[in-house]
Amino acid sequence: MAELKRTQIKAVLASDETGTEVLVKGWVRTKRESKNVAFIALNDGSVIHNLQVVADPQALGEETMRLITTGSCLAVRGTLSESQGAGQKVELLASDIEVYGTADPEKYPLQPKKHSLEFLREIAHLRVRTNTFGAVYRLRHALIFAVHNFFNERGFYNVHTPIITGSDAEGAGETFRVTTLPFDNPPRTDEGGIDYKKDFFEKEANLTVSGQLEGELAALALSNIYTFGPTFRAENSNTSRHLAEFWMIEPEMAFYDLQDNMDLAEDFLKYLIRYALDNCADDLLFLDKRAADEDKLKAANERSEMGLMERLQFVLENEFERLPYTEAIEILRNSKPNKKKKFNYVIEGWGADLQSEHERYLVEKHFKKPVILFNYPKEIKAFYMRQNDDNKTVAAMDILFPGIGEIVGGSQREERLDKLTERMEAMHIPAEEMWWYLDTRRFGTAPHSGFGLGFERLVQFVSGMGNIRDVIPFPRTPGNAEF
Ligand code: 4AD
Ligand code: MG
Repeated sequence: MAELKRTQIKAVLASDETGTEVLVKGWVRTKRESKNVAFIALNDGSVIHNLQVVADPQALGEETMRLITTGSCLAVRGTLSESQGAGQKVELLASDIEVYGTADPEKYPLQPKKHSLEFLREIAHLRVRTNTFGAVYRLRHALIFAVHNFFNERGFYNVHTPIITGSDAEGAGETFRVTTLPFDNPPRTDEGGIDYKKDFFEKEANLTVSGQLEGELAALALSNIYTFGPTFRAENSNTSRHLAEFWMIEPEMAFYDLQDNMDLAEDFLKYLIRYALDNCADDLLFLDKRAADEDKLKAANERSEMGLMERLQFVLENEFERLPYTEAIEILRNSKPNKKKKFNYVIEGWGADLQSEHERYLVEKHFKKPVILFNYPKEIKAFYMRQNDDNKTVAAMDILFPGIGEIVGGSQREERLDKLTERMEAMHIPAEEMWWYLDTRRFGTAPHSGFGLGFERLVQFVSGMGNIRDVIPFPRTPGNAEF
């Protein structure tokens, strides 16, 4: 097929230049064939829609026609023509078809019928060839792009923070170890412990759980920065909202207090949702219909009150509810499910850590809109959060979303050296190892704030997909690292 350049199907479908010759390449979704005509639905991933290829089986020959089956890959040359069928403007009258790759129908696992998401997870190497996963991948891309746009437009600098770290930033201890020491016979210290001095980094090292601490170092020079990188948590949570490897966006701003931080986070989330609505209409319409179909299969009391598009619009149009933790506890304590002991964890009083059932009650039942909870008890939050004057709470904020629970976690940071070291001591965080972090408080410290947005939870919300394993191409969860 000399000379003619390939055109993406997205461009072909948008074109009204009937009569012109085009070359397209893609994968066959379906083929319907009679003696005189064959209809081939071709998709190249540039857009959710297929291009209808109309072919003459007799002209193309029996041998070629036999090789064209669901999943096979073709190059098709032909003439663009006004479509006779409903649902598309143009179709392609094929003059020549080259089969790049066949897909034996006896063996190809993706047939033109509805497959369950569970089954598709087992063939994650092929599931991107379905409409659902094509839409999710494209949406993911658009949202990544929007993240960078948002910050770039506001003068934030993107900083790459390390993936291998020598510290456990959150003090949570749920890290994956990075080592080159032999498991069967590691070098030992005189006391019998493992001698990490002989390890690759000459110290213990982990995969990072967050880029925040290094992000803070950069913010205390560049003022406004953000990181967007992979993060790793070895927590054994087999839920629809946890991954062992996920992507997090962490802005960090000098001179921002907690209010500024909340304002930025709310603007950011709304910007991302609006960007998706403006740029991913085709994919969102498909996902909206998909979510509605799924909903119909659920019990009446488990159905969503709003469709996906409605939900996205609703978040855009309403201010997030801002509520101090102390007031949230009062609401929860007096709530029906708490009094009737319907919660798995009954809220007894102030100081309780909120579980996702409580967060979802506040968002979905009580306020019926996104909620920003702030000023949490210091005992349940990280060491770096700024202590409030009440001596009980810290300037933390979490944003809770319908169907998701916590989507953002952030805080104003403790910029006062004495308060910070005091807190670290109380929480048994070794100050010697964190000398570089503490140096920012020794030299030119400044009030500053930041937050982390879990990227997959965002994609979950925008796509309406129920399980976080279905919004990242190759999910890593306990027991799962195939592909
Ligand atoms: O609340 P987290 O743990 O906050 C931090 O890591 C801070 N260092 C952020 C900061 O202030 N710069 O995590 C932030 C967000 C959560 O709100 C959630 O959306 C997401 O990251 N997240 C996860 N997403 C998927 N799988 C997991 N296991 C997640 N753990 C947290
Ligand atoms: Mg959190």
